Amino acid sequence: MTQEIVHGLPSPSAEEREHSDKLRRAIRSAIDNAGGLIPFSQFMQLALYSPGGGYYASGSVKFGEQGDFITAPELGSLFARCLAKQIAQVLNQVNGGEILEVGAGSGALALQLLRTLSAQNELPPRYQILETSAELSHRQHELLAKHVPHLLHHIEWISQLPDKFNGVILANEVVDAIPVDRFTIINDQVQGVGVAWGQDGFRDAAYTVTGSNWNVIRNLNLPENYCSEAGFQREAWMRSIGACLQSGAVIIVDYGFPRHEYFHPQRSGGTLMCHYRHRSHFDPYLYVGLQDITAHVDFTALADGAAASGLSLAGFTSLASFLLALGILDIIEPIIQTSTIQHVAIAQEVKKLTLPSEMGELFKVLAVGKNLRYPLEGFAHSDRRGRLL
Ligand SMILES: C[S@@+](CC[C@H](N)C(=O)[O-])C[C@H]1O[C@@H](n2cnc3c(N)ncnc32)[C@H](O)[C@@H]1O
Repeated sequence: MTQEIVHGLPSPSAEEREHSDKLRRAIRSAIDNAGGLIPFSQFMQLALYSPGGGYYASGSVKFGEQGDFITAPELGSLFARCLAKQIAQVLNQVNGGEILEVGAGSGALALQLLRTLSAQNELPPRYQILETSAELSHRQHELLAKHVPHLLHHIEWISQLPDKFNGVILANEVVDAIPVDRFTIINDQVQGVGVAWGQDGFRDAAYTVTGSNWNVIRNLNLPENYCSEAGFQREAWMRSIGACLQSGAVIIVDYGFPRHEYFHPQRSGGTLMCHYRHRSHFDPYLYVGLQDITAHVDFTALADGAAASGLSLAGFTSLASFLLALGILDIIEPIIQTSTIQHVAIAQEVKKLTLPSEMGELFKVLAVGKNLRYPLEGFAHSDRRGRLL
């Protein structure tokens, strides 16, 4: 069951292919044990998070130039410096507030936030990290121990959500990595698209969906042959986050749309994407365990999950508008005055974060909260929360 090398994509090494083949065999066994088919969400869970073999659980680089994709905190410190301003504003409203970062990746955001908040004397007593991947937790620890050893006593890795939390919960590009189910519309009915084992590899396989959670999709009245994803686990994740927040805010940054745009008639093939060494493609069955699999975020589903657990909407806007409201241009002003080399790098970073053709418009910021006394500064320029309805 060795995989083909695919034209147009870089080739994995023999060792990487062996790693992938081992994971494929494990997923094939799971399919056999389930009677020949598993939902796509189970396939995605195994491909990304199987201990030892899943994409996020194994030792590949993943983040940055040497990896498969670049996230906002990997570009530089501007994203974190703006976010720090928003965090400080929330922490000022919450007695004894702390920070909880979910899915901290390489640890880049934690490092920059700890540095910025500490320099401004605004670092709360604890910065918690909830990370599913043991390998990444280890990497985060190494990074933080190397660069901010004097702040390590503030940092705590936790393995599950606390029962109660006050302060700010952050999730940057985490929700897009939470498994989705896939479906298509056949004869006016919603049909699940699961995963089976074909002649020589994984293949899509139709199944009948049951359960009231599919009503959201049924009620969209999508056209024939429309294919997309349903993020039930994401909404459940949001509910569990909401259930532990006593006071403060949850800030979610990710690529996606409000529901009416997510399921737009023109987006009839869905939003599932795979990333391998900075190339994007649409085949989740390729290079299993070596590539990232992701789907855009339906922010209406997250807002529904938050409301179901008693949180209020605190803002929804584009990444560009959020960063501009938090003073990204003021932050770069003194840097631009100093050196030409830094000037060029910082201009590139601002462009990447704010241009509509880059991350500025596709990436959104959703904030939900409890017991917040003041409007959040990041939404002062534009608040599109009405579009989530
Ligand atoms: C695309 S990476 C983003 C990493 C980082 N936030 C960044 O912006 O660079 C997704 C991260 O979320 C973690 N993750 C995914 N689902 C999670 C969950 N339910 N709870 C905690 N961490 C999760 C992954 O292991 C990985 O660290």
